[in-house]
Amino acid sequence: MKIVMIAVVSKDGFLTRGDDPHPSSWASEEDRFHYLNMLRSHTLYLMGSRTYEFSKKSLPASAKKIVMSHKANEMPQTSNVHFSAAAFGDILKQYEGSHDTLLVLGGASIYHQMIDQGLINEIHLTVEPLLLHSGTRLFEHESYFAHHGFRLVEEKQLNENGTKLVIYRT
Ligand SMILES: NC(=O)c1ccc[n+]([C@@H]2O[C@H](COP(=O)([O-])OP(=O)(O)OC[C@H]3O[C@@H](n4cnc5c(N)ncnc54)[C@H](OP(=O)(O)O)[C@@H]3O)[C@@H](O)[C@H]2O)c1
Repeated sequence: MKIVMIAVVSKDGFLTRGDDPHPSSWASEEDRFHYLNMLRSHTLYLMGSRTYEFSKKSLPASAKKIVMSHKANEMPQTSNVHFSAAAFGDILKQYEGSHDTLLVLGGASIYHQMIDQGLINEIHLTVEPLLLHSGTRLFEHESYFAHHGFRLVEEKQLNENGTKLVIYRT
């Protein structure tokens, strides 16, 4: 199964601005369009419980969502929302036969654990042309990806303001 991660960051590597959990207050419309397209073209998502709380209303109801939580046992399981505290490797094995791709929606803790464990195959990273200075950080320097064995395979300008989409693969 191919594991694809999607995120939007500021030029200084932040996923959020200060205490505001919603990237929509600073990310571009073009990133939103890309994100929605990626959601539409995948049927299996994985995310942390915090990201799920912030984004569940905007996720397609028909897609299967794996939500990581240490309280998975206490959470209501439905056919399309599966709370899990299992190891990532075990979760991937569980879905391997039924899905070709898994889309990883974040947040920071999930990105870091999965990158550290060498589980991500492809990264779609939108870089917005602004500095946020504080918030939740994905990386301190874009060399973070090279350090983890990723190579840049595509770079695309998304708008006139300088928003770019960069794609990394292992
Ligand atoms: N800019 C972007 O592209 C982007 C993308 C996604 C999210 N975000 C933002 O990032 C923030 C959330 O990031 P975050 O790092 O704080 O939270 P998160 O990764 O979304 O969720 C963290 C939670 O996931 C659960 N968890 C994590 N690893 C686990 C594991 N190995 N096993 C079991 N459960 C595990 C725990 O839930 P329990 O506490 O329930 O145990 C933990 O508290 C939000 O503000 C969100 O809007 C930004």
